[in-house]
Amino acid sequence: MKNVAVIGAGTMGNGIAHTFAQSNYKVNLIDISQASLDRGMATISKNLDRMVAKEKISEADKQNTLNNITTYTNLEEGVASVGLVVEAATENLDLKLKIFKDLDTFCAADTILASNTSSISITKIASVTSRPELVIGMHFMNPVPIMKLVEIIKGYSTSQETYTIVKELSEKLHKVPVEVNDYPGFVANRILMPMINEAIETLYNGVAGVKEIDTVMMLGMAHPMGPLALADFIGLDVCLSILNVMYDGFKNPKYAPCPLLVNMVMAGKLGAKSGEGFYDYSENRKAEAVAKMFQ
Ligand SMILES: NC(=O)c1ccc[n+]([C@@H]2O[C@H](COP(=O)([O-])OP(=O)(O)OC[C@H]3O[C@@H](n4cnc5c(N)ncnc54)[C@H](O)[C@@H]3O)[C@@H](O)[C@H]2O)c1
Repeated sequence: MKNVAVIGAGTMGNGIAHTFAQSNYKVNLIDISQASLDRGMATISKNLDRMVAKEKISEADKQNTLNNITTYTNLEEGVASVGLVVEAATENLDLKLKIFKDLDTFCAADTILASNTSSISITKIASVTSRPELVIGMHFMNPVPIMKLVEIIKGYSTSQETYTIVKELSEKLHKVPVEVNDYPGFVANRILMPMINEAIETLYNGVAGVKEIDTVMMLGMAHPMGPLALADFIGLDVCLSILNVMYDGFKNPKYAPCPLLVNMVMAGKLGAKSGEGFYDYSENRKAEAVAKMFQ
């Protein structure tokens, strides 16, 4: 399998395309928006430049990686003759169901269809296709070229063969795959989101300030980043939506989102991407923080 398609050129999609292309896969990067494709390619180029500057890769590696990526705005053209599709479009159930229905029509019968969703059920996504055994979750972490983990989510009907192919593929990308079953939040977010929510609750209750809470977790627990800063980078809207999926899915009040988180999202304070969350992000500070992750 040397040809893959990545759907969505946003935060995750451009990182996933970068990672496959750097491992010599031919990547068709697809987005409905030409502007997103342009921004995505510019981000990949900038991130490769950082790797060249740190002497992690050569200038030739950079060119080779960029040459391995072709962009498309037409889904049908972009997924023709690929062995694997990794969908990383906006986190929206109806949108993903529509994309997977279309993929089932446009892709060859043996093409594996993976989703990078943070919270939507793989079993539900698979149910709109005629090939649920070939549908799987490939949950990469942000920033994809740096982070080692891929949570591989087996839907109710995902075949062992599909799992094995995706596991081996992840290893070829120099990632560490971990097998997980399909329940709300999978493993990463089921554990991470309650911690983030509790950090927000601690702030909401006036126990300590933003920097104090993050400092306790960084210096006391050896976390590389405090939970409130991490929430800002994930996006507070994304955190809220994942908590709601777990709250609905388990019917358990322990996943109820903190009212402060709900209020901040309603006020448009979404974290680094909106310029303000628990911290203030001018363009420069955001660029600095991203650059640090690539060191
Ligand atoms: N941001 C994270 O930290 C993170 C981490 C892990 C997983 N995820 C998951 O990855 C997926 C993408 O998240 P993101 O943060 O990259 O989002 P994003 O908003 O940065 O990018 C989404 C992209 O999808 C494109 N898109 C929307 N509809 C499309 C369609 N029909 N066809 C093709 N492209 C379409 C948009 O134009 C946009 O460029 C989501 O499912 C999210 O839950 C995100």
